[in-house]
Amino acid sequence: MGTTEHCTLVTGGAGFIGSHVVDALLARGERVLCLDNFDPFYDPAIKRANIRAALSNPKYKLVEGDIRDQALVETLCEAEGVTRIFHAAARAGVRPSITDPLLYEDVNVRGTIVLLEVARRRPLTTFVFASSSSVYGGLPTLPFSETAALSRPISPYAATKLAGELICYTYHHLYQLPITCLRFFTVYGPRQRPEMAIHQFVRQIEEGQPVPMFGDGSSRRDFTYIDDILQGVVAALDRPFPFEVFNLGESATIELRALIRLIEQCLGKTATIQALPDQPGDVPVTYADIGKARSLLGYRPATPVVEGVQRFVEWFRTMRRETA
Ligand SMILES: NC(=O)c1ccc[n+]([C@@H]2O[C@H](COP(=O)([O-])OP(=O)(O)OC[C@H]3O[C@@H](n4cnc5c(N)ncnc54)[C@H](O)[C@@H]3O)[C@@H](O)[C@H]2O)c1
Repeated sequence: MGTTEHCTLVTGGAGFIGSHVVDALLARGERVLCLDNFDPFYDPAIKRANIRAALSNPKYKLVEGDIRDQALVETLCEAEGVTRIFHAAARAGVRPSITDPLLYEDVNVRGTIVLLEVARRRPLTTFVFASSSSVYGGLPTLPFSETAALSRPISPYAATKLAGELICYTYHHLYQLPITCLRFFTVYGPRQRPEMAIHQFVRQIEEGQPVPMFGDGSSRRDFTYIDDILQGVVAALDRPFPFEVFNLGESATIELRALIRLIEQCLGKTATIQALPDQPGDVPVTYADIGKARSLLGYRPATPVVEGVQRFVEWFRTMRRETA
């Protein structure tokens, strides 16, 4: 099948990562069906802005609805002739999952099973599941490899993402559904969710507000620029596998305190740090081994954090000017 004949269902297609994937597929002339319920986890007006350009593209169809509505998902997939699914809809965020675990379970686990139930009856070329580095929990073996046996997630969010991967495998086993699970390592860039590190730090330092720093600042993250994630997601949609799991990160880490210094430099401002204790559910380090994604997906991350943060700051300031 030629790529132009595809219709891809992007769940959560108005969100940060989903909306970028939508734009990339539309730019290739493909049809995209976006299903998003504009969940109030953060200001839905941000999601409206994310999809503004896509709305004028005749190959784009937006449906405001819930992934847990099986009849809706089934009818839509049939009507649009969906051939691929990128499943990005979820309740994201580690800390809020501790206060609202049942909602996370319902959207992230039940919602994924609803989609898989629809997917197994369709002639799909692939189902790509947006998983997370959080599935590794506090694994001491670095960098994190897909071969690690995982059974110790340390937040409800992480447990729901691991559960999503497990049920994906079950559907592959039972119905031979081709599935690729992508473990994203903290993604940032234009449209990044406002409560995430980098976006939050940039906003707080720019506005002269205190910057809460959890722990002693020595925690480390593998931050992945959105363009690199996009390359990995599109590659996974284009290269179906029977069942595979891939890490998508930069495969480099930066300490929290070094990240704050970098943001200070990019903004030309000084942060007022508010030192706070470690947060439950947060892992001390994330670090991706991306050897498998490099060899099987052709994944080539190209944006080191020093460059990506600079680009983020430029986007942030432009966005602020335009919405002032
Ligand atoms: N951003 C990251 O760093 C990161 C890291 C690891 C994994 N992920 C995963 O990637 C995916 C996208 O994350 P994001 O950062 O773009 O988050 P996001 O919150 O910006 O996007 C998720 C979208 O899903 C929608 N949604 C939520 N519940 C829904 C429901 N029941 N029905 C339909 N739509 C619903 C939301 O309205 C939102 O637009 C998520 O599955 C997340 O768990 C993200």
